[in-house]
Amino acid sequence: MGLINLLRKKCNISFFTTPSHSRCLFIFHKLRNLYKYDISETEFHNPEEALKKAEEAAAKLYGTKSTKFLTNGSTSGIITAVLSCVKKGDNVLIWKDAHPCHKNAVELAGGATIYYQIPQDPTFKVAQKTSPEILEPYFENNKIKALIITSPTYEGFVSDIKAIKDLCAKHNCYLIVDEAHGALYPFSERLPQSAVKIADFTVQSLHKTAGGLNPTALIHTNTNIDLKEALSKTNTTSPSYPLLASIEANINFLKSSRGKRLLNNLIDRIEILRKNCPECIFGGDDITKILVKIEGLTGYQLSEILYNKYKIEDERTNEVCSMLLCGIGTSTQKLDKLEKALFAVSQKN
Ligand SMILES: Cc1ncc(COP(=O)(O)O)c(C=O)c1O
Repeated sequence: MGLINLLRKKCNISFFTTPSHSRCLFIFHKLRNLYKYDISETEFHNPEEALKKAEEAAAKLYGTKSTKFLTNGSTSGIITAVLSCVKKGDNVLIWKDAHPCHKNAVELAGGATIYYQIPQDPTFKVAQKTSPEILEPYFENNKIKALIITSPTYEGFVSDIKAIKDLCAKHNCYLIVDEAHGALYPFSERLPQSAVKIADFTVQSLHKTAGGLNPTALIHTNTNIDLKEALSKTNTTSPSYPLLASIEANINFLKSSRGKRLLNNLIDRIEILRKNCPECIFGGDDITKILVKIEGLTGYQLSEILYNKYKIEDERTNEVCSMLLCGIGTSTQKLDKLEKALFAVSQKN
């Protein structure tokens, strides 16, 4: 039995155990169902076994050696990956502008950080993808135990993970891919290739693009390293089973025909938006991150117009462009509104 069915299981046991709300005192009533499903590791429920089954099913679906559910975001996934393969004094190669959890992970493992830089994309003034050519010189001068790549970048530039994995294999180095923004990739051939089957460790946030609750995430591995010890350092001993069950439901949804249809519709609709706004300049490798630039406007100006005039808020802005993040829950209506706004703004400039 997986987690979802376990939480639905009828029961006539009187629990003298945690949690203390006893699944019937709903202090924050709006979250009544959350309290009802908030169980602990009791003999009746045995949620560890259900979690194990759900994670094994996920690993089978993703084609990995192991997949683990995380309820503290990709942040905890990156730290788990680094703790599991880096020992005190080992060198870890990380991107200078990466999410802070990369640096924190190396610090927690007692490793030594070596930073690499990525050139800027000349059109959008954001970091480009990482390539073996950028990384190779660091391997010539140092023994590197692990490399962390952010792919996709926040703005949707995707690295050639297979080529980077080959480089790592040559130097006996673990490859950790921060795919926090790429959790939809395994579910559509129209999106970039996911790292889950290639990298030693891949970390994905379900909450960012795949419709998950904050802060649900996954860590996938293709090594023989058992993550148990590292996970015990990054996780609470009282996990939220409703959140864990939402991960199981999330994966089931993404692989379902409804999930696939929604994702296909999303990609179709963004393709149409791009066609219907010929004056806009779009970029990036991942169509679901609408990276857009309009000649004659700075990114900040574009962002301000979208917000003030059209009540549209973007995810990120810089001096030349704006990025509007889409995910499995982005409706056609919302994209209709964005298309109208981008068309109108681009015609005026
Ligand atoms: C590239 C990248 N990696 C990791 C993280 C951390 O993810 P989470 O919020 O799921 O912990 C973020 C969050 O913004 C991110 O952008």
